[in-house]
Amino acid sequence: MAEAGSNDPGLFVIIQTTRSMRRLKPDPVPDELIRQILEAGVCAPSGGNMQRWRFLVVKDPETKKSAAAYYKRAWDEQAAPRYRAGAPAPGVSAERFSRMLAAAQHLADHIHEAPVWIVPCLEGAANPTRWAGSSIYPAVQNMLLAARALGLGATLTTLHLNFEKEVEALLGLPQDAHSYAILPIGYPLGRFGPVGRKPLGDVVYRDRWGQPFAEGG
Ligand SMILES: Cc1cc2nc3c(=O)[nH]c(=O)nc-3n(C[C@H](O)[C@H](O)[C@H](O)COP(=O)(O)O)c2cc1C
Repeated sequence: MAEAGSNDPGLFVIIQTTRSMRRLKPDPVPDELIRQILEAGVCAPSGGNMQRWRFLVVKDPETKKSAAAYYKRAWDEQAAPRYRAGAPAPGVSAERFSRMLAAAQHLADHIHEAPVWIVPCLEGAANPTRWAGSSIYPAVQNMLLAARALGLGATLTTLHLNFEKEVEALLGLPQDAHSYAILPIGYPLGRFGPVGRKPLGDVVYRDRWGQPFAEGG
C-alpha cells in the first residue's frame, strides 16, 4: 500500500493504468531498472515452483533488427489485415480501435528501436495443451506491472510466434526451450492511462454460469 504523501501510486492504480505502450523512445534504459523488472518477474508463481523460466534480455541492435523483420511480416501479412477487416472489441469505440491499430502498426515498424527486449521462455518440451504458458505469463504480467511502476512502457507481444522457429534460431534458443512473448521496453512517448475494459457485470457470474453477480447477494 502506498504511504500517504508518497509518490507511489499504489498497486491498484498501477494495475488500472498498465496499458500497452507501443510508442517508445529509443533512449537507453539503465540495467538496474531492467534488473528490477526481472526480479518482479521471478516473484511470480509457476507450476510446482519449478521455475523453468528463462529470460533473454536483448539489446543488440542487429539481433533485434533480424527478429523484428519476422514480427513485422506477421503483423503486415496476418494480423493487420484481420484486424482491419474486423470490428472493434466489444465496448471499444471505432475511434479507440483505430488508435490501437495505428499504435500496433507503429510498433510493427519500430519494435527493433525499443532499447531493450525481454523474451520470456520456458525450458522443457513444447506444450500444446491448455497449460501452455501458464507457468510463464504470470511472470510476464509481473514484469509489465513493474515496468509501469518504474515509468517504463512495454507491450506483451506474441506475433513473432508466427515465425517461432526462425526467431528462436536467431536468438540461439536450444531445442528444449521456447519463447512465449517479446516485451519491447523503453521510456514511453505517450502517457499512461486507464485501460479500457468491459464492466464486471458483463463478465462475472455468481454460482452458476449466466447468473448475474451482485455484491452482497
Ligand atoms: C496473449 C496476448 C498477445 C498479444 N500480442 C500482441 C502483439 O503481438 N502485438 C501487439 O501490439 N499487442 C499484443 N497484445 C496486446 C493486446 O493487444 C492489448 O493488451 C489489448 O489490446 C488491450 O490493450 P491495453 O493493453 O492497451 O489495455 C497481446 C496481448 C495478449 C494478452
